[in-house]
Amino acid sequence: MNDFFNKDIISIQDLDKAQLEVIYSETDKILEMESSQRREIARGKALGYLFFEPSTRTRLSFQAAMALIGGTSFGIADANSSSIQKGESLADTVKIMAGYSDVLVLRNSLDGSSRYAAEISEKPLINGGSGTEEHPTQAIQDLYTIRKEKQKIDGLKIGIIGDLKYGRTVYSLLYGLGNYDVDVHLISPESLKIRSDSTYDIKKGLSYTESTSLDEYIEDLDVLYVTRIQKERFPDEEEYMKVKGSYVIGQDIIKKMKDDAIILHPLPRLDEISSDVDSSPHAKYFKQAEYGKFTRAALLGLILNKDGF
Ligand code: CP
Repeated sequence: MNDFFNKDIISIQDLDKAQLEVIYSETDKILEMESSQRREIARGKALGYLFFEPSTRTRLSFQAAMALIGGTSFGIADANSSSIQKGESLADTVKIMAGYSDVLVLRNSLDGSSRYAAEISEKPLINGGSGTEEHPTQAIQDLYTIRKEKQKIDGLKIGIIGDLKYGRTVYSLLYGLGNYDVDVHLISPESLKIRSDSTYDIKKGLSYTESTSLDEYIEDLDVLYVTRIQKERFPDEEEYMKVKGSYVIGQDIIKKMKDDAIILHPLPRLDEISSDVDSSPHAKYFKQAEYGKFTRAALLGLILNKDGF
């Protein structure tokens, strides 16, 4: 039986390096398969999605992934159009959806929501983003993109810049990078450094530097992972205004980068990367978003098939 069969995916901390490598190799396999072969992987299976926060990439790439491997998908993309609006609980909503589908994906603004829902669901549940806590399938696609674009992860110098306090993708990425031998440099305004309650877990896997200045590191980086300042998670708009626009990756920064360095971003992007960077060979964020369809297809294929595919 494969390790992922019927397994919940709540935190990337629950996966070891060997398991991550299985997902990457299965993703490569899906990319190489004939479409008729791919459609057998989830034939007759259904993905139920429950999104209580806005999403473009995560929800649609899960749906695209399920279609790619021959399954179907349906769900709630807006809580206001569901019986949640009438007061139905998350627990009951999850139970109902588990009865209609073979695998669930949940996005919710509360930390702990996915682990709670997974305890209730009789079907495997994937965390599609829980509060400021984690976004494990984003990290899987980020690590896959690094591996694909740089042909390795070990040995790289990786800068992560922006909102490191509220950006949940950063936490999952740091936990995932803990499986590799990498130099990590965290760059953020002082008020948006990574949360102290997470540093113990992050430091179990890797060591890192913290700085407010990108200039210190930019010439040495192999990967620059840019994040959006998460306005919606600030308790106080005034605090957001103080850090808005702290870093903007433009042509001036590009000129300082190594020729083969790559820029990633989980997206959505606001003004932290200038649109004129998009045509640069360094810009890999749209490719990264596209890889998400294939990494999610691989993960779904493994969860749904006892002996893999
Ligand atoms: N990267 C990401 O989670 O994007 P969405 O919020 O659009 O799903």
